[in-house]
Amino acid sequence: MLNIFDTIKEIAFKIERAIQTEDLGYSDSENSSGEDQLKLDVQSDLIIEKAFANVTSVKAIVSEEKEGILELHPNGEYTVCYDPLDGSSLVDVNLSVGSIFGIYKGELKGENLVASAYIVYGPRVELVYVERDMRPLLYGGNENRFRKLGEIVLNKKGNLNASGGTQKNWTTYHKKFIDSLFQEGYRLRYSGGMVPDLHQILLKGGGLFSYPATTDRPDGKLRQLFEVIPFALIYEQAGGEAINDKGERLLELVPSHPHDTSPCFFGSVYEIDALKEAYGIK
Ligand code: AHG
Repeated sequence: MLNIFDTIKEIAFKIERAIQTEDLGYSDSENSSGEDQLKLDVQSDLIIEKAFANVTSVKAIVSEEKEGILELHPNGEYTVCYDPLDGSSLVDVNLSVGSIFGIYKGELKGENLVASAYIVYGPRVELVYVERDMRPLLYGGNENRFRKLGEIVLNKKGNLNASGGTQKNWTTYHKKFIDSLFQEGYRLRYSGGMVPDLHQILLKGGGLFSYPATTDRPDGKLRQLFEVIPFALIYEQAGGEAINDKGERLLELVPSHPHDTSPCFFGSVYEIDALKEAYGIK
């Protein structure tokens, strides 16, 4: 596992450099979800693929930018599922973006996630890493080295509210719930990049991030293996909760395809409790 974590650290500085120097245009291809790929998405994916090609404990990798599973080392123990550059459409307006990694042992499902990590490329590079039996750790990057900054622990209740999806396609009960949080004094924080949005809630003590089921996306937008399940481990280990719209823990999801999505809610205990009440799933 240490090799994998060290590799993620190296990847962070390589992708940071690519963000600063590479062309921002579109490539000629689409990713597995049918979205146009930016050259930077392709470049970041390549950086990660090359980096894990040297790590023998990695049996296979699964990328948000590729269809299917890429076998690397038959005797390896772990499969790394990753989104190389989440929120990449925000790079051209110079907002923060991120990379997300889920490290699975065995079949690709929530209960087999053993560790996860994400990198935030913002004014600074930061890295968060967690395993099942520890608090998430925050690292700050500087001159190709990461320094541990501390543990992340969520308060029982926060004051930030971030809900994705097109509002006209929200259900009436989701809209009512989000409005009720604002009435209670919650403040809107939503950049459109799940990594910086979830990172902000984690570091500012708590709140709620939602990507609900909408009429145009009944299964949500965010991908289970690369985005939803890895962040669920981070939120739970920080003392928060992460569930879907049926009240099931995201860490218990069993995707039937690597690119399956799920409605998802991440937050501190108070907000997830309020959500369950509003959704009638208590
Ligand atoms: P993309 O990588 O295509 O820019 O998508 C970003 C993801 C995720 O990071 C973010 O939370 C969500 O899409 C935002 O979607 P909406 O604009 O629908 O809220």
